Amino acid sequence: MKNQFLLILSLFFSFGFGQNSKLSTEHYQNKRDAFRDYLPQNSVAVLFSAPIRNRANDVDYVYHQDPNFFYLTGWHQPHSVLMIYKNPQRDSEGLYHEKIYIPERDDYMEMWNGKRYSKDQVKKMGFDRVAERTDFKKEVQNLPHFDRVLFFEFKNDIRNQTMYVLKNGARYKVDDPHDLFDLKAAFREALNFPIDFNRLRHSAYQNIMEADGDNLDEIKNELRSLVVRDSTLMEDDIIKDFLETPVQNFYLEAQKKTAFILRNYNFDLETLPAIMADMREIKSKSEINLLKKAVAISVVGQIEVMKAMYPGMSEREIQGIHEFVYRKYGAPHQGYPSIVGAGENGCVLHYIENEKEDIQNQLVLMDLGAEFYGYTADVTRTIPANGEFSAEQKALYQIVYDSQEAAIQAARVGISFRELYQLSYNVVAKGLIELGIISEPGEARRYYPHGLSHHIGLDVHDSGNYGNLEADMVITIEPGIYIPENSPCDPKWWNIGIRIEDDILVQADGSLNLSAAAPRDWQGIEALMREESALQDFILPKIETLVE
Ligand code: GLY
Ligand code: MN
Ligand code: MN
Repeated sequence: MKNQFLLILSLFFSFGFGQNSKLSTEHYQNKRDAFRDYLPQNSVAVLFSAPIRNRANDVDYVYHQDPNFFYLTGWHQPHSVLMIYKNPQRDSEGLYHEKIYIPERDDYMEMWNGKRYSKDQVKKMGFDRVAERTDFKKEVQNLPHFDRVLFFEFKNDIRNQTMYVLKNGARYKVDDPHDLFDLKAAFREALNFPIDFNRLRHSAYQNIMEADGDNLDEIKNELRSLVVRDSTLMEDDIIKDFLETPVQNFYLEAQKKTAFILRNYNFDLETLPAIMADMREIKSKSEINLLKKAVAISVVGQIEVMKAMYPGMSEREIQGIHEFVYRKYGAPHQGYPSIVGAGENGCVLHYIENEKEDIQNQLVLMDLGAEFYGYTADVTRTIPANGEFSAEQKALYQIVYDSQEAAIQAARVGISFRELYQLSYNVVAKGLIELGIISEPGEARRYYPHGLSHHIGLDVHDSGNYGNLEADMVITIEPGIYIPENSPCDPKWWNIGIRIEDDILVQADGSLNLSAAAPRDWQGIEALMREESALQDFILPKIETLVE
């Protein structure tokens, strides 16, 4: 009986699917068409769905689709593969440019884990061809015929998975022969992908192949920067000789050797990330609308917490209010683990324990973002638990505010991410010098140790080239000052951590702060914190159980 019970649980928890897409079939078709324009001649791009990740024993994490895969398909189920071909392929039905492989229907597994779509249903999602994943191993035999096969480097966290089959009324646990683990194994074999593949070495060989008489210094610099990242590359004779042999035309010898090594490979790990960065950094109108909604939901979370906050509140309760608001609006979860840090915890940049129970008169840093149909906000407010900033808190807060304001005002088409960062850094450095916390601008890095800005989208730190701002980018602007205990300054500044983070839509005619409705100047925050909160009447019974 006990075993039976365990078996039931293990099936029940094995996996669920992520949130389906809200965007139209045409949206994804357009993305795939645009993607194909980027592809080199006679190439194919192969994108795999995300693996199912195990939490412990027989319980998995909630499934989250790979953002690149989702970006091109809107498809949210695991054990799937997308192929996009530069040049049309032919089968008995005619020409096609793309094919998606999906899990086959399985009534028994669907009873436990939810519906799988039929091929016909998925075809309606606008794919040229839909095949079952069981056909993938046949398909990969064609890969050697392409000049280039583009894919993302494999991660090492893909587990070989089991499934259940019913035979004569009995249930058996068997290896799933077509799970992601097996699909990737077949793919690697077809590509002759080396078991000891070292991406940097591969890059070094590719660089060597590009050498000619005129660009040797440039190529050597490239190789040296690879060696800085992995010093064992100097144990590779080809790379070592290339860098150290002084004889004329030495590179021709190195090229002969690398050509021999590379001759068996047609895979390409560089081009796909570059295409995705180009595409994903500019948002379409419908993506912007989803981001606006995700940000608007997150803003309400910040506002409700500001009203509800009292000094006896715990970090966990604050987190709970934000996340409760998200779910009220239909956002299934956060785009990243919620950060709620009071006092010294606010100085830990990615603090996610959220376990302090007594926040009293401290500053509370709240960095949380709702994820809505895959798109995530990233909004931070830092507020005084007791409703009023102390003199020290206010002085530092004003510097962060001025730094953020300078960057928001300057965030226009044409300015670079680097310039924006420098603007915000200069304000922080000047402010800290004026307060006597540092004496040189360079020292500000100690208290402002992170970047200013990143794209948001399907990832909280979204793909992009991080050059100049362009219209329809959605970026964060998030300066901060963090002064942990024992920092070399007057102890009155210790244990104050402040970040203010807003989500900005860059437009041709200026920028729009999507999170502006959550107050961020100290006056606005204090005024809102004086307002009544509906949560004041939400009083739960005491639970008396003693926890030692
Ligand atoms: N929430 C992580 C970040 O602000 O980048
Ligand atoms: Mn953040
Ligand atoms: Mn951020």
